[in-house]
Amino acid sequence: MQSQTETDEGSTDNDQRNSAADATFPAALEAIRTRRSGHNFDSDTDLDEQTLEELIRDATLAPSSYNLQPWEFVAVQEADRIDEVVELAYGQEHIREAGTAILVVGHTAPETADQVFNEWFEAGRMDEEAANQTKDQTVGMYADDRMGRDYGIRNASLAAENLLLSAHARGLTATPMIGFDADGLAEFLGLPEDKIPVMLIAVGPSGGDEPDRLPRRDVSDVLHREQY
Ligand SMILES: Cc1cc2nc3c(=O)[nH]c(=O)nc-3n(C[C@H](O)[C@H](O)[C@H](O)COP(=O)(O)O)c2cc1C
Repeated sequence: MQSQTETDEGSTDNDQRNSAADATFPAALEAIRTRRSGHNFDSDTDLDEQTLEELIRDATLAPSSYNLQPWEFVAVQEADRIDEVVELAYGQEHIREAGTAILVVGHTAPETADQVFNEWFEAGRMDEEAANQTKDQTVGMYADDRMGRDYGIRNASLAAENLLLSAHARGLTATPMIGFDADGLAEFLGLPEDKIPVMLIAVGPSGGDEPDRLPRRDVSDVLHREQY
């Protein structure tokens, strides 16, 4: 049996078995396979404004429950505020070196429901009655604390992954983090009560190579068929 060895790009022989060459979007598969949580940033170069906005736009293209898009993003770039974020993230210095920290924020209630279900209706994808009924059901379902929290985390996590892949595709380095004082960061950034910090992302120009990626569990260890 072929062993799983690392290549320069951090992809593995296992990955190569499933060639990107005949895929419809080979670059997308390549990006998925080579993305890393990098810690090596070029601290002399800042992320420019246009790239920041493009990263966020790509993040907003993530799928979400009924297209409710229950996410927002707080970008911190001012040096003294980055210092505070580093402290709240238990001293993770790579945030300072990245120069930009983006908190992906999740909504715990479907506050976009009026607008979004109207868009379903306007686009002819639901009739008015179905749009109203589905909206009421959705609002009711997420009124539960646990469901509301899951709603924010599930949807915003997908936006976070989009942002990571977009950064990678642009040659930037990005690392997702949950190693931070969630209450402290929420307070520092002024999050309202019904918004939760989901993922902190350090992002910036790359400072060079990263260590080889650690092995991934084999498909045979993680894939169950028909039942767990
Ligand atoms: C939910 C989550 C939390 C993480 N928290 C941190 C963190 O606090 N600090 C950090 O440096 N990396 C953090 N990481 C990055 C992981 O260490 C990294 O994804 C993992 O080691 C696999 O490496 P790779 O992303 O380069 O493939 C986190 C990743 C995830 C998905």
